[in-house]
Amino acid sequence: MSEIYISPSILSADFANLERDIKLVENNGADWIHVDVMDGHFVPNITIGIPVVKSLKQVTNLPLDVHLMIENPEKYIQDFANAGADIITFHYEAVEPEKIESVIKMIKTTGKKAGLSIKPKTSPKVIYPYLKDLDLVLVMTVEPGFGGQKFMEDCADKILKIKSNAPQDLIIQVDGGINDITGKICTQKGATSLVAGNYIYKSDDIKKAIDSLR
Ligand code: DX5
Ligand code: ZN
Repeated sequence: MSEIYISPSILSADFANLERDIKLVENNGADWIHVDVMDGHFVPNITIGIPVVKSLKQVTNLPLDVHLMIENPEKYIQDFANAGADIITFHYEAVEPEKIESVIKMIKTTGKKAGLSIKPKTSPKVIYPYLKDLDLVLVMTVEPGFGGQKFMEDCADKILKIKSNAPQDLIIQVDGGINDITGKICTQKGATSLVAGNYIYKSDDIKKAIDSLR
């Protein structure tokens, strides 16, 4: 079985203690740090932005997996890259279809890994044309905007469809309501990266929680 990249979402961490909470997962087997950026337009919530990513970069050796839930992501890609994002994922629904390709190119030009995400109601078909240019596809298994929501199992079926249309090395990530049970549903279908916020950060045993996702 191929490697599964575990990416704890710091949306469920204590924002007054981000360094402590990043170390907590870094020292207990996490592969990446998932950073949820929300602008109050693309999603109703507002979270963290470029200056925070820059500061987080100073306190971790793990790759920063930045999930942009923002409108006009192309305006901010260079800034996130400069701040230290290693993977930059934007939403298909946030960009006009004819511009998707250029936004992917923009990310690749910064030297970072490029990801494209789809919300629960978006068909996987719309992203097939871009799979060969991407490093990662993020299948949302909740409506983006908040942590702690219930996993939508029908969204996980998109993983199989994407996998059968993608180059072998494309990373297929899932995000939303992931725990030891829902994570297995996704990895069995071919997901190779799991994002988990509440399941990891609300656990009494962080190492056990992370290990249980593999
Ligand atoms: C939701 C975010 C997720 C969120 C996941 O919009 O993209 O990354 O933090 O949280 P859980 O794992 O608690 O559903
Ligand atoms: Zn996310």
